[in-house]
Amino acid sequence: MAYEQWKESSEAGDECPLLPTSDLSKQSDSRRPKKDTSRRLIIGCMILLLVFLSVTNATTAIYLTRAMQDQWHQTYTSLESIEEYWTIFQTMTEFSSPDPAIVDAAWQQYVINGFVTLPNSWAEDRHWPAARSMPGNPSQGIYVVDGFHQLHCLMSIRDTVSTLIDGSHVHNRTHTMRHLNHCYDALRQAIICRADDTPLYVPKDTFWSGDGQQRRCRDWKALEDWVIRHTACQDPVGC
Ligand SMILES: *[C@@H]1O[C@H](CO)[C@@H](O)[C@H](O)[C@H]1NC(C)=O
Repeated sequence: MAYEQWKESSEAGDECPLLPTSDLSKQSDSRRPKKDTSRRLIIGCMILLLVFLSVTNATTAIYLTRAMQDQWHQTYTSLESIEEYWTIFQTMTEFSSPDPAIVDAAWQQYVINGFVTLPNSWAEDRHWPAARSMPGNPSQGIYVVDGFHQLHCLMSIRDTVSTLIDGSHVHNRTHTMRHLNHCYDALRQAIICRADDTPLYVPKDTFWSGDGQQRRCRDWKALEDWVIRHTACQDPVGC
């Protein structure tokens, strides 16, 4: 179909006076064809110019759009694309074990604090707010990678609840409440922002939604490695 159209227009183009045809040269009146020929020549050239400009304009627009998209894709971190992989979500893991020794050991694996240092120019390119400077290096700013911030909040909530369940009191109620309220909201905003659209199946015989279901995930280990390479601390585990 496309070829047919091209062929038709190409055949129509054969009649274009840009390429004088035998039909035109056959015409006996010597004045009018000349005038017609030059007018057609000008119109033909203008059409060609128009087509040329449209093509270059479209090419430029596509190139600019791609460049802008690339820029925005880089805004999580300078990792342009963290590897993704398939994994299986499970309702019961060591992180939800009823055995305190197992469950505490599991959560204690997450020790990287997520504070990194990045060049100010990197942030400027992305129109990010200027960050607190690294001590002794004003060209570098301090950032905390949000996944680590979110995990820290989740673990803080868990610690507080554990303390209260064990019958202990929190040391400073005002401070604890302020931190908890911040953490609830930070996690709420992260969840709403992602708007995860995975439909978790509800099993026939339990309510363990999504148990054993395949999920596509970004590679947390790759992000940890990146954070360690850019750490703002002498020791990425604790500043
Ligand atoms: C409790 O925390 C609040 C808020 O962080 C702080 O202003 C206050 O000084 C703290 N009180 C004590 C006794 O540490």
